[in-house]
Amino acid sequence: MVETIHVTMEQLKQVAFDTLVSFGFSEEEARHGAEVLYASDVRGVDSHGVARLEFYENMLAKGMINKEAKLTVLSETPAMAYLDAQNGLGIVMAPQAMDVCIEKAKKSGIGMVSVVNGGHFGIAGYYALKAVKEDMIGFCVANSAPVMAAFGGRGTVLGNSPVSIAFPQGADGRDCVMLDMACSSVAYGKIQIADRKNEKLPIGWGVDEEGVDTEDPQDLLSRPGSLLPFGGAKGYCLGVLLEMMAAVLPGANTGVDVGWIKTEGMKENLGYLFIAIDVKQLRPMADIEKDIEYYTTKLKSTQPAKGNNEVFLPGEIEHKNVKKREKEGVDLNINVAKDLLRLAKQYGRLGEEATIEDLFK
Ligand SMILES: NC(=O)c1ccc[n+]([C@@H]2O[C@H](COP(=O)([O-])OP(=O)(O)OC[C@H]3O[C@@H](n4cnc5c(N)ncnc54)[C@H](O)[C@@H]3O)[C@@H](O)[C@H]2O)c1
Repeated sequence: MVETIHVTMEQLKQVAFDTLVSFGFSEEEARHGAEVLYASDVRGVDSHGVARLEFYENMLAKGMINKEAKLTVLSETPAMAYLDAQNGLGIVMAPQAMDVCIEKAKKSGIGMVSVVNGGHFGIAGYYALKAVKEDMIGFCVANSAPVMAAFGGRGTVLGNSPVSIAFPQGADGRDCVMLDMACSSVAYGKIQIADRKNEKLPIGWGVDEEGVDTEDPQDLLSRPGSLLPFGGAKGYCLGVLLEMMAAVLPGANTGVDVGWIKTEGMKENLGYLFIAIDVKQLRPMADIEKDIEYYTTKLKSTQPAKGNNEVFLPGEIEHKNVKKREKEGVDLNINVAKDLLRLAKQYGRLGEEATIEDLFK
């Protein structure tokens, strides 16, 4: 049985904000970061929410993240911008870059932003959803630390290219259809979660250093094993092309040149590609909404396969999590809560005697 502590989503967001401020970020920067972490936790992507604060602190302590970074424009056209995130904290810099992209789309119908010197930016879905809030299609991809093997190969040689595509909501506030995934069979964070829970990995998630299937999280966490691409060669090919769009385009690091927790002191220098499409400038929103409704209603009325109860639209499970968690809160893994408490003590927000309950007061 995994030990947990029950907290509200607002308490979790506050702890994320306070932690980022204690790291030395301004309130505005901390708000960006806390929003990204909140979006992850509330959607049920526990691997990329507040659980990541310890990882970010680790990289800050190693000098891999530039706390003074400011998003700067290297070149731009009315629809495009080439930006430098100066190796700042990804969850602080990337939201600002997506805001630039959306502003371009408002003026030109489509906005495209390519970013160099980026850091780990949390869940890709957060950025695509920012566009959806403006009735735009959002597309977002980043490259990542080298966590994945090439199809048929061994060793961690390429990133898993987290990617998200979100389509604007239909009428009457229905949830948007959205994809948010990485090109590995699972995110690296899910290996860490399995390890925290002392669980074995399902076959197909990862391989050991010889490229042989493994069930042991430690083969990937402390030994040179790798995640596998999803869907065999197709997931691998998609991952390569997405890493090229995210990172080769802006001249960011790729594959084994990306710095991460397993490399001392190397900067990440990731790349991002954001696209926002203002669909209203193409067709009337009411017509598009009608077509969204027609299409998604047909999909939702699919007869479930034998043994299955329901067919979900892309993103639907996460939207359900949002509704549930916003109302009921979340059972936070006790080890994550302990890490957050340790950070609060280390950065002087709480005294040595403080308990986890004090953290969420
Ligand atoms: N920043 C990074 O470096 C990084 C790296 C990897 C992953 N991530 C993030 O981690 C998160 C998890 O990634 P993942 O690859 O493990 O995703 P996942 O495997 O949990 O889910 C991927 C997608 O599948 C859809 N889905 C799942 N089950 C479904 C069902 N039964 N019916 C219909 N659709 C369904 C979900 O809506 C989602 O869009 C994502 O938010 C991703 O952006 C970030």
